[in-house]
Formats: sequence, structure tokens, C-alpha cells
Amino acid sequence: MKTVAIVSQKGGSGKTTIAVHLAVCAELHKKRAAIIDLDPQASALEWYSRRDAETPEVIKATPEQLPALVKQARANGAGFTIIDTAPHSDRSAVVAANVADLVLIPCRPSAFDVAAIGATLNLLKISKALDRTAILLNAAPPRGAMADVAEQGLSEIVPVVPVRMHQRAAYSHAINGGYSVEEFDPQGKAAEEIRALYKWIMKP
Ligand SMILES: Nc1ncnc2c1ncn2[C@@H]1O[C@H](COP(=O)(O)OP(=O)(O)OP(=O)(O)O)[C@@H](O)[C@H]1O
Ligand SMILES: [Mg+2]
Repeated sequence: MKTVAIVSQKGGSGKTTIAVHLAVCAELHKKRAAIIDLDPQASALEWYSRRDAETPEVIKATPEQLPALVKQARANGAGFTIIDTAPHSDRSAVVAANVADLVLIPCRPSAFDVAAIGATLNLLKISKALDRTAILLNAAPPRGAMADVAEQGLSEIVPVVPVRMHQRAAYSHAINGGYSVEEFDPQGKAAEEIRALYKWIMKP
């Protein structure tokens, strides 16, 4: 089972958007997926409540419950578990990073977001998870050099995922409707980048 934690102390960086899209993508690749939602705001659960489909499973949990839940997901045959965490919560970030094979830090390519990444990196350093951490540039403008500049600076500190997610209305529409971009526009550019991201995550 692959376990991915999505962690960022910065609010609104795209954690929940990425978590639900990766979980649906895993299901479309015939892997049983579970989202464990550690955010008391429970946005992933809110997304699920708008869905018609029963999968992927979304489980709301506290950081204390997480290790046992991950074990249980593995025992139940889940192939892909994704942990969505709360912003401004050291506890949920550290506990999620501890149980994950891969930690993704979504980061918008703006100067403020890039400057705020240090707080998240410090937490991951303390929990010794930096060697399995990568930054995922999210909401990159489709044109212009902003994301390239951000990537250049960030990649000197920590690996940057070679797939970017761009700023696309499709993501907001999908979240609002309880869908994934792959479910209502499978040929669209957003769906393409989610598949590329999933492929990168699952590479041997
Ligand atoms: N690539 C994108 N393109 C367009 N809109 C996006 C993109 N990524 C995220 N958004 C939008 O930005 C907002 C914040 O995203 P999201 O809720 O996923 O962030 P978050 O990190 O989970 O926030 P929080 O820290 O509050 O949990 C949402 O309205 C979402 O639809
Ligand atoms: Mg969220």
C-alpha cells in the first residue's frame, strides 16, 4: 500500500484538492483508495458528502487515531491511502509524515507562499521525514515564468515534483460538485496533469 501525506502549514495551498484528486485517480487505476481526513474542518469529508459515488472512502480522524487507521487500511486491502492534514497544525503534519511513504507539500508559486514553506520544512526536519518529502507546485499560472522562478529557488532546498498543477477553474468546479476533474472532463488538461502526478507517485 502506498501512503501519501499532504502537508502544508499554509492555508489554501491545495491540500484537499490534491488529496481527493489523487484518491479518485487511484480508484480509476483499480486501486482501492482511502482518504484519511485529519483536518477538523473536514473539507475532504464535505467533498464526499456531495458525491454520488461511494468511493473513495473518506475517514475523518484525529492524529491519535492515524497509525491504527493506516494499519487497518492496509489489512483491508487498500492500495492507496492519502492523508489530508490541517493548516497551522504541527501535530497533524508530524503524525501524517511519520506514517507516510511520501510527503507532498503543495505550494503556490507566489512569493508569500514560497516564503512560508520554511515552517512546514522545519516540522518535517524534526520528524526526520525530509528524505521522503517533495514540493508540489500547485495553481501555477499556465503562462509566464512565475512557477519556474519558484521552482528554481525551492529545488535548492528540497526536491520539487517534476509535474505541476496549474491554476484551472476545473479544479474548483470539481471540488464544489463532489467530483474529480477526471470524472467530468477526462480529456481535459487538469485530468492529464492529475494522471501524470499519480504516475510519478506510483513509479517503482
Ligand atoms: N490548481 C488549482 N486551480 C484552481 N483552483 C484551485 C487549485 N488548487 C486549489 N484551488 C482552490 O483553492 C482553494 C483552496 O484549496 P484547498 O481547499 O484544496 O486548499 P487546502 O490547502 O486544503 O486549504 P486548507 O489549508 O484550508 O485546508 C479552493 O477553493 C480550491 O478550489
Ligand atoms: Mg484542506
